[in-house]
Amino acid sequence: MKKSIIKSSGMFVPPNVITNHDLEKILDTSDEWIKQRTGIEQRYWIDEEGVTGSSDLGFEASKTALDNAGWEPEDLDFIIFATLSPDIMFPGSGCLLQAKLGLNSTPALDIRQQCTGFLYGLATADAYIKTGLANKILLVGAEVHSSGLDKSTRGRDVTVIFGDGAAAVCIEGVETEKKAGVLASALHADGNFAEALTVELPASRLPVRLPPDVPINDARYYPVMDGPAIFKKAVRMMPRVIKESLEKAQMGLDEIDLIVPHQANMRINQAMGQFLKLDNDKIFHNIQKYGNTTAASIPLAFHEAMEQGRIGKSGDVVIFTGLGAGLTWGSVIYKFL
Ligand code: ACO
Repeated sequence: MKKSIIKSSGMFVPPNVITNHDLEKILDTSDEWIKQRTGIEQRYWIDEEGVTGSSDLGFEASKTALDNAGWEPEDLDFIIFATLSPDIMFPGSGCLLQAKLGLNSTPALDIRQQCTGFLYGLATADAYIKTGLANKILLVGAEVHSSGLDKSTRGRDVTVIFGDGAAAVCIEGVETEKKAGVLASALHADGNFAEALTVELPASRLPVRLPPDVPINDARYYPVMDGPAIFKKAVRMMPRVIKESLEKAQMGLDEIDLIVPHQANMRINQAMGQFLKLDNDKIFHNIQKYGNTTAASIPLAFHEAMEQGRIGKSGDVVIFTGLGAGLTWGSVIYKFL
């Protein structure tokens, strides 16, 4: 059977660095609070002028990933685009990216799974490869959060954690007897907690999507989060879903070289490490530089872990994991060919 092999990766963040001190100037927060509670020191936001959507950031990351794989856009037979911040309400950012890549018939699928978009995307790519539906797949995670954040003190719990960015991987079906590629995945969702992190408006379920009686700066136009509830869920569910995927792959935690988790909060990932009794150096962090870039977080961390030589040798094993809005959570085990 073919194995789903990540051939290459690429990343892109907009040039505009926003430090914690910059945020102190626009809302009631402090560098100390943000660093202590989340580990974040800075994030990148798009410029307020001009038009930059998730597909634009995704396009830049995709060009690098394609170059690194030695592929032309025409080589692709499937595109998966994970984002919670699509350029426009419809069509999906995958279609917009496909056109930017100069293509006009390659199928493009959007995935709206927030922080676990990359996990759902990787499991989907693996299923497409293993069933012969596609063989060369571009998987992109990209977000433009900054244009949708409440940049007043009211929204400070969410606004300080989100950053803009994109990352992409090229995945290829390779015929090999070796135990390699995507070894196992475990995905979950619990829509009963949808309200724990949500943007309520605009809403198609209303008679008018932009209700005329709701002021344009109403909190319902911005992400609203029950941070402590999500924190507790993440710390509990991520170790559990890691164990589930290990069981599926018939592997032990001692066989894992690095955990590349979603970057929502460094304290969440440290607590996950304590639950699993793992050394700190087995967990990759780059939230300090980028904040939470949601669907881009895991591939961006993967790209940097590879660049730093932390992983990438034949036989290295990585676990990707995350939990986010939905709620959705999951983990995927990947072994380098
Ligand atoms: N600056 C200063 N003070 C703040 C800020 C801020 N940016 N944000 C909140 N506070 C205050 C609160 O008002 C509160 O004050 P009070 O005690 O006077 O009422 C106090 O800090 C503590 O607030 P908590 O919300 O309890 O703070 P907590 O330690 O839980 O940290 C955080 C908040 C960072 C959001 C944390 O709860 C968290 O990381 N949660 C999980 C986030 C997550 O994983 N989300 C899912 C992924 S994102 C996605 O899916 C798109």
